[in-house]
This record gives sequence, C-alpha cells and structure tokens, in this order.
Amino acid sequence: MKTQLEHLKRLREEGKEEDVKQLYEAFFVFAAMWALGGPLDDDDKPGFSKHWMSYSRIKYPDNGGQCFDYYWEPLEGTWRPWEDRVRAMDPHYDGLFSNLVVPTAETTRQRFLLEVHVKASKGILYVGSAGTGKTTIVRDYFSTLDPETTLSAATNFNSYTDSKALQVVVMGHVDRRAGRAYGPAPGKKLIYFMDDLNMPYVDGYGTQSPICLVRQIIDHGIVYDREHLDEQKLLQDIMFTACMNPKAGSFHVDGRLSRHFTLVSCLTAEREILKTIYAQILDAHLKTFDKSISEMSLKLVAATTTVFWGVATAP
Ligand SMILES: Nc1ncnc2c1ncn2[C@@H]1O[C@H](COP(=O)(O)OP(=O)(O)OP(=O)(O)O)[C@@H](O)[C@H]1O
Ligand SMILES: [Mg+2]
Repeated sequence: MKTQLEHLKRLREEGKEEDVKQLYEAFFVFAAMWALGGPLDDDDKPGFSKHWMSYSRIKYPDNGGQCFDYYWEPLEGTWRPWEDRVRAMDPHYDGLFSNLVVPTAETTRQRFLLEVHVKASKGILYVGSAGTGKTTIVRDYFSTLDPETTLSAATNFNSYTDSKALQVVVMGHVDRRAGRAYGPAPGKKLIYFMDDLNMPYVDGYGTQSPICLVRQIIDHGIVYDREHLDEQKLLQDIMFTACMNPKAGSFHVDGRLSRHFTLVSCLTAEREILKTIYAQILDAHLKTFDKSISEMSLKLVAATTTVFWGVATAP
C-alpha cells in the first residue's frame, strides 16, 4: 500500500498526469467490476465479463479469460492474472487433511477482497451452492490473520440458532472495556464469521431472530442485557462477515442486513481448478516416492477427475 502511495506521489511530482488518471480509472474499474459483477452467478458472469471488458477504457488482456481473472498492478500499470499471486502450498503441512487449503487463483483473489473489506470494517457475504469453497475461503483468510491486530470467531448457524444463542456467542468473545462498552482487547479488531447465515428458522412474521440481532449490532452497535432490558451494551471494534447457500435454508435473508455486506457469489470450481488442487496435494505426498511413481501424479488426477465428472454429469 505504502509503495503504491509513493508511486502515485512520484507520478504527480514527475507531472505524469495521464498516468495518474489511468491509475484512478483502473481502481474504479476494478472496484465497479466486483461491485456490479461480483454477485452474478455461473450463468451470468461470462456475459457480464464480455461487456465489461469491451466497455472498459482500461483495456484487459485479450486471451479468453474473464475480467474477474485479473487485478490491477499499479506499479506496472497493467492487468495481471491472479495466478501470478498464488502462494505455493505449504509442503510441510501436518494438520488435519480436511483443514488443508491449497491456494488457487480463487482463494487468492477472495483473500484480497476480504483484506480490503476488513480494513474498511465492512463484511462480505459469500453466496454459492454446496462445496464451492465459501467456508474454505474465509477460514483460510482467518488462518493468516495477525493475532496482535485482528481476531476472529466463527459460528455456524442452523435452524435452532436464535438471537439469544447468537448473543451468547457474540458476548463470549468480547471483554468489558469501560462502563457499558464491550469489545476485543484494546487496539484489536474482532471479525465474527457467520457460516450458513440463512439457516435459522423463519418465524411466523417472516423474520429470522439472529439475523435481526446482527442487523441491530451493525446498525446501532448495541445489544440489550437480557436480564435488565433497559440496559444497553455497546459493542466496539467488531465486524461481521458471512456465507450462505441459498439452496439450503431460506432463500433470502433480510435486505436490511444483506445491504451491509458486499455480495460475492462463489462459482462451481472449474475442472482445471480441481485438477490444480488435487495435483498439488498428490505432488506433495508423492515427493518422497520413486520418480517413476511421482511422475504419475498428473495422470492419476486427470483420470480421477474424468471419472468424477462422468459420474457427476451422468443423466
Ligand atoms: N482451495 C482448496 N484447497 C483444498 N480444499 C478445498 C479448497 N477449496 C475447497 N476445498 C474443499 O472442498 C470442500 C468444500 O468446500 P467448503 O466446505 O468450503 O464449501 P462450502 O461452499 O462452504 O460448502 P457448504 O455450502 O456445503 O458449506 C471442502 O472439503 C474443502 O476442504
Ligand atoms: Mg460452508
């Protein structure tokens, strides 16, 4: 960030007004692309991307990809594919296999979006069907947070989650500061992650009580003491981010809550992405094997995914 600011200052000092204009334009194009195109689903993204790339004054590379495949690299003044920023997988990972995250272009760009949002204390609501990696993206991001500055707390919503249960979770992660104020340790920010946001029971009035509570906290920064209802507790330095699968639970969550989030849809992983994930895992595993075996990694993955897609798309 600092380098980018210095770059901007230098451009100004050198009187390169055109380059400065291009920089602002590119940031605008990038932000508007995600704001308008981010919520679109599998079917609509390609069409949007085609139009966006043709309208944009900052020309995108012309190699068949979608506009979402690129980020603006201010120091070079060009679009770069997210693939260029993908970290290598940790070869010495020894945690639970189910927690293993293989960095891909998708996890990398979503991590960037989350980072930008957390800086602005604004949440992202990831929407997508089962298995599109929504939870993985957020948990992977949380695993890299610096606990000195940012803390996280994850909670899974289900049909039994009510506002009371949620309030217990929320208050369980904050300490009393001064007077009525509650929050994480001073100087830190706390991100609550609400997985399966739309799962809570919809009551007779069409509302979901935990969702109303979250909206109240975001709008007013308060919860009421349940024993002494006239007592308000102020919540400071916290923010929320969430995931939901509209095919399970209620289709909509209250617009008065969802307006506080940037909506981003998670797409079904493409075959190539699946292959990259599995090939990296298998490569790491077969490293210590004989070369004749480790060389088979790609072929094994290709064969397995072909069988998988055959089964998945069978009528
Ligand atoms: N980049 C990745 N690296 C390794 N595993 C991944 C990656 N992305 C997704 N997965 C795996 O794919 C599976 C589905 O991912 P995840 O649980 O994040 O999906 P989801 O969108 O949250 O689904 P649901 O709506 O059912 O909660 C998980 O087992 C996860 O470990
Ligand atoms: Mg999930």
